[in-house]
Amino acid sequence: MERKTVIISQEALEEQRDYCARVRAISQGRPNAPLALVDTYGCQQNEADSERIRGLLEEMGYGFTDVEQEADVIVINTCAVREHAEMRVLGNVGALTHTKKKKPDQIICLCGCAMQEPHMAEKIRRSFRHVDLVFGPHVLWKFPQFLFEILTHRGRIFSTEASDGNIAEGLPVVRQGTLKAWVSIMYGCNNFCTYCIVPYVRGRERSRDPQRILDEVRQLVAEGYKDITLLGQNVNSYGKDLGLSIDFADLLRACNDIPGDFLLRFMTSHPKDATQKLFETMAACEKVAPSLHLPFQAGSDRVLRAMNRGYTSAQYLDQIRRLRALIPEIVLTSDVIVGFPGETTQEFEDTLKLIEEVRFDALFTFIYSPREGTPAAKMADVLTKQEKSANFQRLVARQNEISAERHAAYVGRTLRVLVDGKNTDGRHALTARTDGGRLVHLDGGEELIGAFHTCRITRASNWALFGEIIDGEGT
Ligand code: SAH
Ligand code: SF4
Ligand code: F3S
Repeated sequence: MERKTVIISQEALEEQRDYCARVRAISQGRPNAPLALVDTYGCQQNEADSERIRGLLEEMGYGFTDVEQEADVIVINTCAVREHAEMRVLGNVGALTHTKKKKPDQIICLCGCAMQEPHMAEKIRRSFRHVDLVFGPHVLWKFPQFLFEILTHRGRIFSTEASDGNIAEGLPVVRQGTLKAWVSIMYGCNNFCTYCIVPYVRGRERSRDPQRILDEVRQLVAEGYKDITLLGQNVNSYGKDLGLSIDFADLLRACNDIPGDFLLRFMTSHPKDATQKLFETMAACEKVAPSLHLPFQAGSDRVLRAMNRGYTSAQYLDQIRRLRALIPEIVLTSDVIVGFPGETTQEFEDTLKLIEEVRFDALFTFIYSPREGTPAAKMADVLTKQEKSANFQRLVARQNEISAERHAAYVGRTLRVLVDGKNTDGRHALTARTDGGRLVHLDGGEELIGAFHTCRITRASNWALFGEIIDGEGT
């Protein structure tokens, strides 16, 4: 893949800026500023894309609302990773027929990963006639043109051609928060894990220019962001396509060298590409959070092979040992799939053994969901739905105990936390995150929000910590 074909040209982006200006003129001609609602499903990559969609909408003169009835434009950014995610989207889009009946000029747009699947786009075309615009992740940068065409001609637009993907730099962003920010460092995935739809809908791996990434991080730090997450489907492959001598560890160190008081996180790391150099860099860089999300997916080597993951459980455990030797307090989280086709209950026991050995702080557990067009969707099952579900329940129950035990070990400790917002549960006023990323509920005034504080942990559950601010009492 040649780089120059991957980068969207300045002229093409300029043309979209013209469309923005034309839509803005239409917006300004209305008695009130039009409103948009952007709803996001799926992972942080989709969150980051939605921030660009909001950025483009703002450029086009739109304000924002959370109320469907009030919205002139609704954008739903979809996820395709499991059937459940797709079903939820279809349910919610179906419900919008009622909103649109009351507000016939409302423009309904669907974008994101699920729209890049031909059968999903076709379903929308045939059965969801109230949807005006459907576009895949590869043409997100053309959103101003699509919206302009719909505003001026009406009619429906579908833009979901297959593509290896591209990089569109310099799109405006409206970020969701003022403390935490996502920075995409690369897009796409080349790994083709046999269960996964992502490589089909997100295209091939392509890395952003390191200077652009560093400029963005510098800018975020200057704006006061304190918790910055570098994003990619497999950040450990960063730079392989650039032809420069920079890898992910080098990029992380360069971000760490930016002056300022902030934390650096990254996700996701693939075990097959997580190097000792990365672990040493994490240990040496004081702004890199002591946490790692390293999905293992399964404990059985046969299942890992069938998944095309490229490592064995022994290799995974060895990585964890080496990482803990360098960063003893590291917070470890992971993803795991239960019920991959052909996985026996005996093989599932290897997954239980692995979590017993690692003792993750938290685990994201999924029941395998067949994805059309992936190799695993054609593989035969050996377990029934009930058996898979029973295994899943055992895994969740055991991990809950482990998480509770790991959290209990925090009680009495004094740690730095970033107070990030108001609590919604009513019992504690504030929420915070430890450097390792664990959630802490705290009491205190709103003036504490937005800064690092010292906190003593007084209580723990399997899902969170509870504490009190003790700034000034020393650590
Ligand atoms: N790129 C990341 C993960 C992307 S998807 C990585 O490789 O780690 C997030 C998680 O969803 C995966 O780690 C996997 O555990 C889960 N997942 C992906 N496809 C799935 C499927 N078909 N069924 C169930 N879970 C799936
Ligand atoms: Fe999917 Fe595997 Fe790529 Fe992750 S690494 S996005 S699980 S194909
Ligand atoms: Fe879903 Fe696409 Fe992310 S499929 S998990 S939103 S990359």
